[in-house]
Amino acid sequence: MALFTVDKNKCKGDGACVAECPLGIIKMDAQEHIPVPAIGVQDSCINCGHCVAVCPHGAFSLSTMPAGECPELPAGWKIPPERLERFLKGRRSIRSYKKDPVPRELLERLVDIARYAPSGINRQPAEWIIIHEHEKVKDITREVIAWMKSLVGSDSPLAGSLHMSNLVSAWEGGKDYICRGAPHLTVACALKEDMTAPPACTVALAYAELAAVSFGLGACWAGYVNMALNMWPPARRILGISQRRVCFGALMAGYPGFEYYRIPARNKIRLVGK
Ligand SMILES: Cc1cc2nc3c(=O)[nH]c(=O)nc-3n(C[C@H](O)[C@H](O)[C@H](O)COP(=O)(O)O)c2cc1C
Repeated sequence: MALFTVDKNKCKGDGACVAECPLGIIKMDAQEHIPVPAIGVQDSCINCGHCVAVCPHGAFSLSTMPAGECPELPAGWKIPPERLERFLKGRRSIRSYKKDPVPRELLERLVDIARYAPSGINRQPAEWIIIHEHEKVKDITREVIAWMKSLVGSDSPLAGSLHMSNLVSAWEGGKDYICRGAPHLTVACALKEDMTAPPACTVALAYAELAAVSFGLGACWAGYVNMALNMWPPARRILGISQRRVCFGALMAGYPGFEYYRIPARNKIRLVGK
């Protein structure tokens, strides 16, 4: 099957697809002035779809991605800089949650959006687990505490540096600093051998967290949960994550208990190097 097809009636020969293909797979036919596959490199297509998406005429279709199935971007779709800056600076990690459950479909929508995060060679390695059931979130939290207890009092430098004894005492006193009472959790993991996975999963989680804000939800990275998932098999077993996978992050999610009204200060930009 041909890697791509070009609708000759729509193609204007402007060469955007040729210029934007990250692998140089498309060249312009000198006679016909339409894009054709470059010889011998078609196998390197990463299926990023830039060729389809950059064509203003809808003339270009990948065999896996017909132009008609790729939604058109309306004019003015970009967020104005002032709004985006306020949004990105105004979002906060949320640590108080209402008890009301979030519809599972909404959590799935966040993950759906996260699929569009950049990933090395467009590998899209992230795999997701949505823990919708609050009881399961509590089970995981209990296992995180069990993991911490196993480290407190041992020689583990992790226990001291992460103040685990305080977290365990707080838990025993009825305070949850692990999942903060969030009704839901979402975990991103990937196959161990995929070297593109660490940054790709991190960026995808960041997408999901930002999307949560836009949908009126609150979210917060659950760092202790993620560590326990990678280091404490009983926590992992609750989610049925195989040994072939590494977890790259967990996000608490729910309706926020509080709104924020100001942007807190952050460190000054540190520019280093020459
Ligand atoms: C990888 C990572 C792990 C985190 N783990 C936790 C966590 O376990 N518990 C928590 O309350 N916040 C956690 N956070 C949230 C940070 O504490 C928070 O981003 C930081 O204090 C700045 O606040 P802001 O996100 O509202 O700007 C984590 C953030 C990241 C990026």
